[in-house]
Amino acid sequence: MIYTNLRTGEVSGPNVSTATKTVRDLSPYWSNQRALRVCDPDAIVYTTQTWEAGGDTALFWGNTTLMPGRVGNEHYMTRGHRHVRHDRGEMVIVVSGKGLLLLMDLDRKCWTEPLAPGSTHFIDGSLAHRTINTGDEPLVFLCCWPADCGHDYSEIEEHGFSTSIA
Ligand SMILES: [Fe+2]
Repeated sequence: MIYTNLRTGEVSGPNVSTATKTVRDLSPYWSNQRALRVCDPDAIVYTTQTWEAGGDTALFWGNTTLMPGRVGNEHYMTRGHRHVRHDRGEMVIVVSGKGLLLLMDLDRKCWTEPLAPGSTHFIDGSLAHRTINTGDEPLVFLCCWPADCGHDYSEIEEHGFSTSIA
């Protein structure tokens, strides 16, 4: 077992890994490349913690801390992805902060759900998903997803979402 701090969202224990994405790491995703050039490329956009609970065929549990900030008019956001296996969904519950969950179906129709403390979201496995911090404090959320869902980042990197939130 591990420990999840329900006040802060921090996950701690064995087999918990941490990863960070900076403004530079997300370079292909920002819509305003001119604004990108005047941003601090090393600014942290988000940090994730992942607990690989049970190995390759089980569930992963973790969190994301998405910082407040903008590149031009675009709020800090996660890269966004679609699961390779469309029969593998995901659960998200917000600990703190405020933002949007951007969803896009297979026909590239987009909509959002508001993210606020306690809001709980089921993401159908066929939906591309991205989180966006629209507030002025870190947006922290916990999530659970099947270890074998697979992550396809290429569609969003190449084509983006069909709308952007500014
Ligand atoms: Fe996902």
